[in-house]
This record gives sequence, C-alpha cells and structure tokens, in this order.
Amino acid sequence: MAQKSSGLMRMCGVLLVISFLPREMTSSVLTVNGRTESHTLNTQVGSEASLMCAVQNHTGDEGLLWFREEGAVDLKSENSINSSAICVTSITEDDNGVTFTCRLQRDQSVSISVVLDVPFPPLLSGDDYQTVEEGSAAKLVCNVKSNPQALMMWYKDSSNLILEKNHHQVQQTSESLQLSFTKVKKSDNGTYSCIAYSPWGIKTKDFHLVVKERGSTVPIEPIIAAIVVVFLTLCFGLIARRKRIMQCCIKGEDPQRETAL
Ligand SMILES: *[C@@H]1O[C@H](CO)[C@@H](O)[C@H](O)[C@H]1NC(C)=O
Ligand SMILES: *[C@@H]1O[C@H](CO)[C@@H](O)[C@H](O)[C@H]1NC(C)=O
Ligand SMILES: *[C@@H]1O[C@H](CO)[C@@H](O)[C@H](O)[C@H]1NC(C)=O
Repeated sequence: MAQKSSGLMRMCGVLLVISFLPREMTSSVLTVNGRTESHTLNTQVGSEASLMCAVQNHTGDEGLLWFREEGAVDLKSENSINSSAICVTSITEDDNGVTFTCRLQRDQSVSISVVLDVPFPPLLSGDDYQTVEEGSAAKLVCNVKSNPQALMMWYKDSSNLILEKNHHQVQQTSESLQLSFTKVKKSDNGTYSCIAYSPWGIKTKDFHLVVKERGSTVPIEPIIAAIVVVFLTLCFGLIARRKRIMQCCIKGEDPQRETAL
C-alpha cells in the first residue's frame, strides 16, 4: 500500500518536472467564450449555456479542468486538452449565482470564472396558517427567492399594515421578510399578505394569523378529574361483581379442560 502510493508520488513528481520544464517561459492565458477576464453570463430559465474554455499562446498540450463551484466537472479526455467546452442545460432558478471555473491543470492558479445570472420572478413560501393565543409572541416568515432581489412589503386584510412601535417588528434579509409580534392582540387577527415586487412580476402570499382568546382553550383539569371518577366507578363496580365474573370464567374454561384430558 505504502509502496504503491510512494510509487505514484514519484510518477507524479516525474510528470510534474516534465510538464514544467518546457513551458516555464511561456505564460499561458485562458479564455472563456473568447473573453480573458472572469465575467457574468446572462441566461434564462429553461435555456442552456455553453462555456468554451481555451488556452492561448501555448506551445504544447495543455490540460484543462472545469469546476462547478468547488466540484470538478467530469470531462472526457479529448475535451480537456487545449480547449474544453461544457454545456449547462435546462437552467433553473437554482443555477442563479453558480460559478463555473476553468483552470489550467498544471497551474490551477491560472483560472477564469463565469457566474450565471438567471433572472426569475419572486418565489414565496412559508408557514401560512398560525394560531396563537392572545398575549403570546408570534412571527410570520415569508421566504423569498428572487433575481433581482424583490422589494417586499406586508399588507393586512388588503390594506397597508400600520406598524405599531413595541408591537410589530419587520425584518428583511435577502431570503425572507419577517413580521414579529411581541404580544399578540385580538385585533392582530387577520390575513397578512407578503408582497414581492420585481421587474419580472409581482407575487403575493397570504399568511393567516388566528388569535385565540386567552383561556378560550378547553380547560384540561376538569376533564382529567372526570375521567378519574368514571374510571374509579368502573373499578368498584368490577370488584363488586368479581365473584360472578370469576365464576363465568371458570365455567367457560371447563369444556377446554375436558378436551385437553
Ligand atoms: C499571445 O500571442 C500573441 C501573438 O503571438 C501576442 O500578441 C500576445 O501578446 C500574447 N498574449 C499573451 C498574454 O502572452
Ligand atoms: C495543443 O496545442 C499545441 C500547441 O498549439 C499543439 O501542438 C497540440 O497538438 C495541441 N493538442 C491537441 C490535442 O490539440
Ligand atoms: C381571524 O382571521 C382569520 C384569518 O384571516 C379569519 O378567517 C377569521 O374570520 C378572523 N376572525 C375574526 C374573529 O376576525
């Protein structure tokens, strides 16, 4: 095992020396789709993007590598010398912001990157039905995915939500719009709409906040007490009739005993 790996190491060392010697003087430059600098590629959902990486000013075979983010892309060997093309098919919202990098195999610091820009209308999601007790805290979270980033707003029962100090709190990140209540009031009950405005469309998602009156829940203690009383009554009844029940059982077993004998 150790021998094998040291053998491999030596082989790699030899390869490295061989590949470094003749090219030390040339500085190879990479291009992707003819451009020498890293750039953003505008694409669309459902379309495909082809990325062509090529080595310029090289004197011999130059191996190329492609990476999607940090992961190496599987390339056929004939598609990795001097030039290499990859195709990103059926582009989705998830490909937005993904970086593809072409690297020179013998010196991976020589590289060029392309970031995909996939515009799409806002996608909203979240827990859209919540029941809270009056006086407790609550939080509505409207998750958003959008490119470009959407302008977000809360509406209540189809009109502007008027924020009350020390009662509501709105927080926005690139991934969500949140509305927190420190202490829910009866009047907070209603439908809250999360609205996202983008040049690619306006989207709305409704969040229902149902406020229960404090103590409006069915009280649990009397129910437990009632169950205990019924249970005890049944027990006493059984004990009282125990004799008769036992007799029944013995009678019932009798025929079986006979067959066993
Ligand atoms: C590549 O070669 C061309 C022509 O030989 C030269 O004009 C150019 O400057 C070279 N580019 C680099 C980056 O070495
Ligand atoms: C790669 O480019 C070098 C230099 O231009 C050339 O000699 C070599 O044949 C090319 N290799 C392939 C596989 O095209
Ligand atoms: C509370 O809000 C819910 C959800 O919008 C609504 O269906 C219900 O009618 C409201 N209840 C009251 C008492 O306003």
